[in-house]
Amino acid sequence: MAFLGFPILFTLLSLAAGVYYFPAVLHGVGAQVGSYLRRSSHTRRELLLARVASEQQTYEAKHKREKSKEDDEWEEVEPSTVGSAVNGGKADKDWSGIVGFFHPFCNAGGGGERVLWAAIRATQKRWPDAVCVVYTGDHDVDKPAILKRVNDRFNIHLHPPTVHFLYLTTRHYVLASTWPRFTLLGQSLGSIILAYDAFTLLVPDILIDTMGYAFSLALSTLLFPSVPTGAYVHYPTISTDMLDSLNAGGQGVNAGAGQGYRGLAKRQYWNLFAALYSKIGSTIDVVMTNATWTQGHIKSLWGPYRNRKNKMTDHDIDVVFPPVAVEDLEKEVAVDEASEKQRGPYILYIAQFRPEKNHTLILQAFAQFLSSDLKLPSLPGQRPKLVLIGSVRDSDDATRVYKLRLLAHELHIKDDVEFVCDATWPQMLDWMRRSSVGTNAMWNEHFGIGVVEYQAAGLVSVVNNSGGPKLDIVIDIDGKPTGFHASTADEYAEGFRKALSLGKEETIAMRRRARKSALRFTDRGFDEKWLANMDRLVRLQIARAAK
Ligand SMILES: *[C@@H]1O[C@H](CO)[C@@H](O)[C@H](O)[C@H]1NC(C)=O
Ligand SMILES: *[C@@H]1O[C@H](CO)[C@@H](O)[C@H](O)[C@H]1NC(C)=O
Ligand SMILES: *[C@@H]1O[C@H](CO)[C@@H](O)[C@H](O)[C@H]1NC(C)=O
Repeated sequence: MAFLGFPILFTLLSLAAGVYYFPAVLHGVGAQVGSYLRRSSHTRRELLLARVASEQQTYEAKHKREKSKEDDEWEEVEPSTVGSAVNGGKADKDWSGIVGFFHPFCNAGGGGERVLWAAIRATQKRWPDAVCVVYTGDHDVDKPAILKRVNDRFNIHLHPPTVHFLYLTTRHYVLASTWPRFTLLGQSLGSIILAYDAFTLLVPDILIDTMGYAFSLALSTLLFPSVPTGAYVHYPTISTDMLDSLNAGGQGVNAGAGQGYRGLAKRQYWNLFAALYSKIGSTIDVVMTNATWTQGHIKSLWGPYRNRKNKMTDHDIDVVFPPVAVEDLEKEVAVDEASEKQRGPYILYIAQFRPEKNHTLILQAFAQFLSSDLKLPSLPGQRPKLVLIGSVRDSDDATRVYKLRLLAHELHIKDDVEFVCDATWPQMLDWMRRSSVGTNAMWNEHFGIGVVEYQAAGLVSVVNNSGGPKLDIVIDIDGKPTGFHASTADEYAEGFRKALSLGKEETIAMRRRARKSALRFTDRGFDEKWLANMDRLVRLQIARAAK
């Protein structure tokens, strides 16, 4: 596909030129294409709404007969959450539009997906008549299978009648492997193709991207100016860190790549892309980011253009921390003297089996810890165990798990390490009740939802001495530590030893502090902030539709 590099570059340059120099022409053509897409997908829209109505009827009929506990819970629309979420005018509770969620990898089961499902659940509760549609490329799973997985993996119960899935056929265009060269541009172009694919299926009333496809939202605005767009940004597509890294003495994979002739070209290309990305970002109506770090980067890229377009208001580019199941964990996992008896000297590592999670480092550290003098006063007679929990999304993941098993074998700790692939929520809870320590080995993780989960479950953390786990999560509470920081295998081994040899009193005290620390990141906090932003989108939709 390498030969595609030039045509893509050309297309994007002309697109950029179009945006800059012939906006009127572009908008004219856009509106034409938009109204064509609206007409051609109209029937499907009617069919979808009919299906929602009939599923809703069936659901109600069935649940009048057997009112289970779960559904009572469902009907409890938390008014306090909603009330405090918005200052000033609130959008009507019976708003009934279609909200499109652009999330081509919705069945992946990672932190980004948790945000998606929690957002849909909050939206469903606030606007029971609205319909949430997820554009996905996961052809191998149908709606019941997806909802079941959301239930099992995240313990999130969606209301089935008002959530639907539309299947995209062009997802390969956004894979990095499709674009070996000019990857950033290529994937962005891919996301435009993918968005077009989505609009041929259905034109939503509000479009929200939760995967970082800013170009898709820009296409939506071009084709359907009246459809408000929202972005929840986990990670900027290009960051000032990346641009800086090209300089000599920079850090990361591109360190110092800015030298020489090729380096100069690369720098130009990245600068051009950054300018385009900034421009595109200014077309989005409502922007949220998942962390302060991300907010800083997005502000520096999108801020200037957004200012100029006068989109800047008080709460422009809001930080909405992703929800962590803190409340669930508090309810399900006890932290007291009695529960201490159920815990063994087990070290838990919950992370997807991806290279940057560095499971290798943890296996080596654990082997080192086991081979040292094991005198653990608090846990007499029990052998420590390392438990690796993660989802296996594809054959690459499966291969990595296989290699990690081999490594455990080589390190002679095969019987002391347990792999738990694709664990359900109850299984994870069970491990969190039985374990003592939670660990994490990724370098410069910007946050680390898994680490917050450890804390909520009262685990003592041994985490990398970098990024969010160090700065935001495993910090002192009431002036005392909630865990340990480490860098090398030696330090991790030492961290495990310290964490497992605290006295009885101190162990419980540290678990309590950890739990207190986790209260900073709850589901309720997410719902409130999400709904406040969603409310702005709904009000925009109502205002624009009235024109
Ligand atoms: C894993 O950790 C080791 C030791 O710190 C480091 O040398 C290695 O680069 C890390 N691997 C990855 C993929 O981060
Ligand atoms: C935001 O998303 C990025 C990318 O997925 C992730 O590394 C980071 O941990 C997230 N931040 C929070 C607060 O979850
Ligand atoms: C964090 O973890 C990585 C390995 O994943 C390691 O190379 C690095 O040195 C660690 N510590 C710091 C302070 O970055």
